[in-house]
Amino acid sequence: MSHIAPLIPENAPFTAAQRAWLNGWLAAYLSPSEATAVAAATPVEDFPWHDPALSLDERLRLADGRPRARVLMAAMAQLDCGQCGYLCQTYAEALATGAEMSLTRCAPGGKETARALKELMEDAGPAPPPALATPVSAPSVVRHMPRPARFAGALRLNREGSAKDTRHVVFDIVEGGLEYEVGDSLGIHPANCPELVDAVIERLGARGSEDVDCPDGSRRSLREAFTLVCDIGRPSDAAIEVLASRAPDRDHSQRLQALAEGYPGAEPVEADLLDLLIAFPSARPPLQELVSALGRLEPRLYSIASSPKAVRGAVHLTVAALRYEKRGRKRKGVASTFLAERAPPGAEVPVFVQKSHGFGLPEQDDAPIIMIGPGTGVAPFRAFLQERRARGAAGRNWLFFGDQRAAQDFLYEEEFEAYHRDGLLTRLDTAFSRDQDERFYVQHRMREHAAELWAWMQEGAHLFICGAAAMAKDVDAALVAIIARQGRMSAGAARAHLGALAGERRYLRDVY
Ligand SMILES: Cc1cc2nc3c(=O)[nH]c(=O)nc-3n(C[C@H](O)[C@H](O)[C@H](O)COP(=O)(O)OP(=O)(O)OC[C@H]3O[C@@H](n4cnc5c(N)ncnc54)[C@H](O)[C@@H]3O)c2cc1C
Ligand SMILES: NC(=O)c1ccc[n+]([C@@H]2O[C@H](COP(=O)([O-])OP(=O)(O)OC[C@H]3O[C@@H](n4cnc5c(N)ncnc54)[C@H](OP(=O)(O)O)[C@@H]3O)[C@@H](O)[C@H]2O)c1
Repeated sequence: MSHIAPLIPENAPFTAAQRAWLNGWLAAYLSPSEATAVAAATPVEDFPWHDPALSLDERLRLADGRPRARVLMAAMAQLDCGQCGYLCQTYAEALATGAEMSLTRCAPGGKETARALKELMEDAGPAPPPALATPVSAPSVVRHMPRPARFAGALRLNREGSAKDTRHVVFDIVEGGLEYEVGDSLGIHPANCPELVDAVIERLGARGSEDVDCPDGSRRSLREAFTLVCDIGRPSDAAIEVLASRAPDRDHSQRLQALAEGYPGAEPVEADLLDLLIAFPSARPPLQELVSALGRLEPRLYSIASSPKAVRGAVHLTVAALRYEKRGRKRKGVASTFLAERAPPGAEVPVFVQKSHGFGLPEQDDAPIIMIGPGTGVAPFRAFLQERRARGAAGRNWLFFGDQRAAQDFLYEEEFEAYHRDGLLTRLDTAFSRDQDERFYVQHRMREHAAELWAWMQEGAHLFICGAAAMAKDVDAALVAIIARQGRMSAGAARAHLGALAGERRYLRDVY
């Protein structure tokens, strides 16, 4: 029996099945803690494909024979990152019932997931009844009603000589009325880089001042559309098809069509719009047609690095500026470099708070916590520590941090060292990967302290991992090995032990 108060009234225009589904969905969407109550109250369904380390093919194989919503779920990236506005499970359920129509919301799954979803939806035919009387455009609830926050600055956290550029970003939220809790993320609506926008406009032979109707319903100049509304970094398949249909050169047209259809070997791979305009100079579609086919520039999420109890009226983030080179051209991550180098101090930036899906401090202030957060993964743990101090929480705190070099990349070094000295951090262990010949990571440091880690777990510690997905997978494997050895059990039993901790919400991960 569900203990959730139904959210959809009995007299709403839905069948019983629709109402039940909607109540479940809304509960999961609006209140993670209530959703947890449902999970606890209903028989546990196992999702063997729910592992971001598995390939798409493996995930689909594991879901073979399951109901349509589950097969669709297996096509997602399994990160439960919230970028689509749902969890992997609830996005799939919304697609299966017809409540959600967009197949391209899974950002980490990218085109691979979008194509798999398209095939699965086509194979399955129309959505089964009951199609919802009123489609619920779920994710738009928060994401498309952002509030302005005042950008206060982005201070570089790395010292001179570092290969990285990680920023401490501050937003002033006094006027925006935003509220958040530790564990939540901040969604940022970024702007594309003006030099990239100019280069695209030039290649199209346009001026930039032409008025166009945008995918968000607004009418703007082409320059503004490419800057604020359109995803020019990852052109949609529909936009590539528009380029194909408007390329008089047959070879260009065929190669673009192959790209749009995801043919293996079709090139250039992972091309942005400028790459395509350079590679296929005959493809010059009418501007309106192109703008209408491009996907929307989606917001990016950042783990909040502050506690509202410690930092009143502000939100802090820890953002790694993404810069790399491809096909002889320098590239920039849209949102991370918008924050690191383009947003002017004092500017109003549209933001929203993405509630965490249970990734938060234990309610018991005396419970020990173990936080594993290399790189920007340390962000929520800075928030946890501020919160525990503000609450006067007596529980012990252990932080594992890692990055490339101790002298340049020890993010928030003074703060964490001070917490260690004054006792808020019972333990602070670091792993600097490039200070020696062999790479040395947080999980190597954890193995050195395996006995103490096991003792903390036995004493009720809550375990948290945050950061890049590959790191989280390797740390997870190290934890299994530590539990097996220290608990004198088989690898299978150790995996089950960690699974049980996850079931008790004592093992939580926030990965991207
Ligand atoms: C819940 C959550 C919390 C997050 N928290 C944080 C955080 O605290 N701090 C943080 O910095 N980030 C965080 N992220 C990641 C963040 O949301 C963005 O994904 C990240 O900043 C990149 O966005 P961007 O717009 O700068 O890059 P984009 O313009 O989106 O570009 C990223 C794309 O560039 C390509 N790419 C990247 N590197 C290379 C390379 N070397 N070679 C070729 N191609 C490459 C890949 O295709 C990648 O998908 C979080 C993500 C989630 C989901
Ligand atoms: N291209 C860029 O300009 C750029 C810059 C910053 C971040 N990023 C990307 O942004 C994301 C987050 O960056 P970040 O700064 O938070 O962290 P990160 O770059 O992932 O690195 C943080 C630390 O974790 C180490 N690490 C790498 N792989 C690991 C693994 N499997 N297990 C444990 N530790 C591992 C890194 O070591 P090593 O790096 O020595 O392997 C580094 O010491 C990552 O996906 C990263 O690739 C890209």
